[in-house]
Amino acid sequence: MNAPPRQTPRPVTPVGLIAQALDRVADGLDGVAGVPDGVRDELRRARELAGGLDPYLEDVTTPESAALAALAADTRAHDWSARDPDAVFLEQEMLSGHVEGQALKMLVGATGARRVLEIGLFTGYSALAMAEALPADGRLVACELDREVAERALRSFAASPAGGRITVEVGPAQRSLAALAAAGETFDLVFVDADKAGYAGYVATLLEDGLLAPGGLICVDNTLMQGEPWRTDEPGANGRAIADFNATVAADPRVEQVVVPLRDGLTLIRRAA
Ligand SMILES: C[S@@+](CC[C@H](N)C(=O)[O-])C[C@H]1O[C@@H](n2cnc3c(N)ncnc32)[C@H](O)[C@@H]1O
Repeated sequence: MNAPPRQTPRPVTPVGLIAQALDRVADGLDGVAGVPDGVRDELRRARELAGGLDPYLEDVTTPESAALAALAADTRAHDWSARDPDAVFLEQEMLSGHVEGQALKMLVGATGARRVLEIGLFTGYSALAMAEALPADGRLVACELDREVAERALRSFAASPAGGRITVEVGPAQRSLAALAAAGETFDLVFVDADKAGYAGYVATLLEDGLLAPGGLICVDNTLMQGEPWRTDEPGANGRAIADFNATVAADPRVEQVVVPLRDGLTLIRRAA
């Protein structure tokens, strides 16, 4: 039996941060005299729009499988703060979750992908979601730096029939990519969701070392990075890395791309025709 969540997840998407900011404004205006009714009404409407979006998307999206729900519950219940402070930093908010998982599953099914690569496994939510859409002989290879979290993911995969389609490569992803390329492996769909500073290198390797099959699709997560690429506040290291990555992709004539404002941003990239 899982323990209850140790902490409510903090907002990690642009819309989640907007909703949080609007709640703070409303709290700040509580009891303040002289605020025109029209302003309070606009604020109420803005809070409903921003705060209601994610729950609404959850409600109207195909439900997740029992195996995915159990994996997400296990991830929420785990005490990530108790990890060795010298180990790779991990937190429950890294899990992509129901709506993004369903979007990835849909992309695997719609493209007819048979071989999928994931860079950044964590507890395995997106890997298992994509594996559920693969044919019985399909294969998903997931790269993960942290052995402990990879073993946690493998325990969850063992509870699902789709889990048998997943193999995990533990180690720095660039090393795993080099080994996969040397073995002549190719992938129809790749989900990039690891260290943000590594994104540009991963996409270059996929395009240049033969890992992306002809007609293949690259999906890259967190490409809105909580709005840091366009906000005027000084961005953090991840915000800078994503801003540079987005600019690099936008200037690369080899590819065409679109940033879908799903959760914290999902960029779809393929070779230009
Ligand atoms: C955002 S999480 C992945 C979330 C997962 N895709 C999901 O949807 O639940 C990022 C993961 O990338 C891993 N990672 C970070 N740097 C890495 C590297 N250089 N090579 C491989 N994995 C790395 C982290 O350990 C972490 O588990």
